[in-house]
Amino acid sequence: MKLLLLGSGGREHALAWKIAQSPKIEKLYIAPGNAGTREVGENVAIKADDFDAIKQFTLDNDIQMVVVGPEDPLVKGIYDYFRNDEALKNIPVIGPSKAGAVLEGSKEFAKGFMQRHHIPTAGYKSITADNLEEGLAYLETLQAPYVLKADGLCAGKGVLILPTLEEAKKELKEMLGGMFGNASATVVIEEFLSGIECSVFVLTDGKSYKILPEAKDYKRIGEGDKGLNTGGMGSVSPVPFADKEWMQKVEDRIIRPTVEGLAAEGIDYKGFIFFGLINVKGDPMVIEYNVRMGDPETESVMLRIKSDLVDLFEGVAAGNLHEKELEIDPRSAVCVMLVSGGYPEAYGKGYPISGIEEAKAGGSIVFHAGTAVKDGQIVTSGGRVIAVSSYGADKAEALAQSFCNAGKISFEKKYFRSDIGFDL
Ligand code: AMP
Ligand code: GLY
Repeated sequence: MKLLLLGSGGREHALAWKIAQSPKIEKLYIAPGNAGTREVGENVAIKADDFDAIKQFTLDNDIQMVVVGPEDPLVKGIYDYFRNDEALKNIPVIGPSKAGAVLEGSKEFAKGFMQRHHIPTAGYKSITADNLEEGLAYLETLQAPYVLKADGLCAGKGVLILPTLEEAKKELKEMLGGMFGNASATVVIEEFLSGIECSVFVLTDGKSYKILPEAKDYKRIGEGDKGLNTGGMGSVSPVPFADKEWMQKVEDRIIRPTVEGLAAEGIDYKGFIFFGLINVKGDPMVIEYNVRMGDPETESVMLRIKSDLVDLFEGVAAGNLHEKELEIDPRSAVCVMLVSGGYPEAYGKGYPISGIEEAKAGGSIVFHAGTAVKDGQIVTSGGRVIAVSSYGADKAEALAQSFCNAGKISFEKKYFRSDIGFDL
């Protein structure tokens, strides 16, 4: 099969690494990819949301399946673009329709969906400039801290957690006034939930689903989970508290009602669902939905999938996923993200990277996140630069390997958290 994968981050390198292992793959293309995805396929200089260029490439190169890494093309409707095009309509796209992608694209929609299907989540109220007074009054009824979420996509920056009522009221007004542009014209105010978070992933054909290995990611820049939020500084799979009993609750209360709810609402959904969960005194609740895999969770989750991922994708496309096997590797897998100093605020780019081969020789799988090739040299091209992933008999062994190999890779102002997994 000739498969086109869209995206350019660490998640896409991990997906490409796994897809390339399938005996079904004749040729893997990644658009646009990064300096790492070249190792497992061919990069194509097309942006992941340039639908017309993707169409042309798909037809010219006889692509038989498209897998979508990031949310952007999904929210913009790439699935529907293919379905509604005479020449493309029989080429499967792994990823939900535009209507399904709204689960991630609109926090207000996601909260309403969970309410309609009795899926456990924090209490909330949805506010616009027209009912600001209601929002201020609702804040008065809540306990600190206060959670404000921009309704639309903000590249992971649209959630504010405020310690005082005063700040919450002030920020609510600023968000509605355009702090995140149109994305915060509607703001969801939520009850604050306290607990440990866990990311659960499923692959669904719209009727049945396979539950992939869960993972925990580490969002803050600083050790001990301090400082600014980032795209993610590392991940660990499995998550000890996500035992059989807890995962059964997740399936019964959250996964099945979500997949059935999507079908009941007539929403076409063939792809990944990412459940951002929080464990509140033993009970899972949904913090957010994403309509794609997590990053950096994918950089550990892919290591734990033993089955042929492309075979599973074929099941998604054909609607016979229930006939497929998902075999999971019992080992632990982790990833430690190397970032560029300054990130998630201003940081430099273009720094030469060395030591990647040494890290691989040390037993890690090195996924590129923000890298590029300049004059034949691999250089940094983003804030999150490289994910150093490892297996281990347990989390400690896997982490020791990733930390050791993280030390072998060098670039100017390299930084990583050396406490990934500390709280598990
Ligand atoms: P989100 O983009 O919705 O995942 O929110 C970003 C982060 O904010 C989450 O990963 C949580 O750590 C935190 N968060 C979001 N909603 C809540 C909530 N209702 N209670 C506590 N923390 C939250
Ligand atoms: N790791 C969180 C995300 O991908 O959104």
